[in-house]
Amino acid sequence: MFKIGTLELKEKALLLAPMEDITDPSFRYICKHFGADLMYTEFISSDGLIRDGKKSVQKLDIFDYERPIGIQLYGHLIDAMVEATKIAEQAKPELIDINFGCPVRKIANRGAGAGMLNNIPLMIQMTEAIVKTTSLPVTVKTRLGWDAEHKNIVEIAERLQDVGIKALTIHGRTRAQMYKGEADWTLIGKVKNNSRMFIPIIGNGDITNAEEAKYAFDTWGVDAIMIGRAAVGRPWIFKEIKTYLETGEKMLPLTLPEKVDLAKQHFIRSLETKDGDRGIYEMRRHFSNYFKGLPHFREIRLKLLTSLDIEEINELLEKIRIQYSTF
Ligand SMILES: Cc1cc2nc3c(=O)[nH]c(=O)nc-3n(C[C@H](O)[C@H](O)[C@H](O)COP(=O)(O)O)c2cc1C
Repeated sequence: MFKIGTLELKEKALLLAPMEDITDPSFRYICKHFGADLMYTEFISSDGLIRDGKKSVQKLDIFDYERPIGIQLYGHLIDAMVEATKIAEQAKPELIDINFGCPVRKIANRGAGAGMLNNIPLMIQMTEAIVKTTSLPVTVKTRLGWDAEHKNIVEIAERLQDVGIKALTIHGRTRAQMYKGEADWTLIGKVKNNSRMFIPIIGNGDITNAEEAKYAFDTWGVDAIMIGRAAVGRPWIFKEIKTYLETGEKMLPLTLPEKVDLAKQHFIRSLETKDGDRGIYEMRRHFSNYFKGLPHFREIRLKLLTSLDIEEINELLEKIRIQYSTF
């Protein structure tokens, strides 16, 4: 067991990474079912929250079954981030996470997300202001540094800890790498094994199966692992890893009928939690991922990804079940 502030998590916890346009309540429902120990909202713009922007406010929707959950905020202005923290607090998450890792140009170039890796004094000042604003545990998610010449996460981690964050997630890439190359866990390990550090360290980047997760825990000693892309289309990865860590056994992959059932569950939740046709639009990426690689799938896929008729979509899912019953 380890603690993020007052929040207790199991040893070797598995976290679902925040992912814009993916980790909405319907996807979180599915990941929770497969054992994700802690999840986050998609990142929320502090400016958007303050302006009462619909998209930002909607991302505050939290359901009791998905707890514990963190609300993730980003922004480049301290005042706006402090205000946004107060608004987010009202949604009663278990923690507030600050995004200092988003590499996307329009965010980072304005100084938000990974842009803060270019201005460490501001990063520290902002973090301190947020910690002082809320009684909730504050955590940070960031990268190794701005670029290969500035991999200063060891120093950043100490300074963030000094101003009161309760856990740190490190994605093993620099901002300059975006999502290219391989995640480098050696510096994540260095932060974890720094004798000055006492807060939990969450490792992130490129974990795609149970063996890799075990290797990362064993080699780098991190308290938790956060999984992003590998959970998309394969949310059972949390169960797969847990089964392997606990028993050494490899879980059998989900059968096609099980995938159809999962897709239907996910779809129901998506319709329940999204307005109008958004519940359909936002499932398209997931349908595509759940059924990736099926032979001669083009025709059904095309219909599945263009239909706006709930009944038709459900029929298509049943058609997949029948047509691929031997998979
Ligand atoms: C589509 C997409 C959206 C993302 N959105 C966010 C986000 O909102 N907040 C955040 O901190 N990281 C975000 N990330 C980064 C992930 O949380 C994670 O750090 C990264 O994908 C590396 O982990 P992985 O190799 O397990 O995917 C996003 C990544 C992807 C691929």
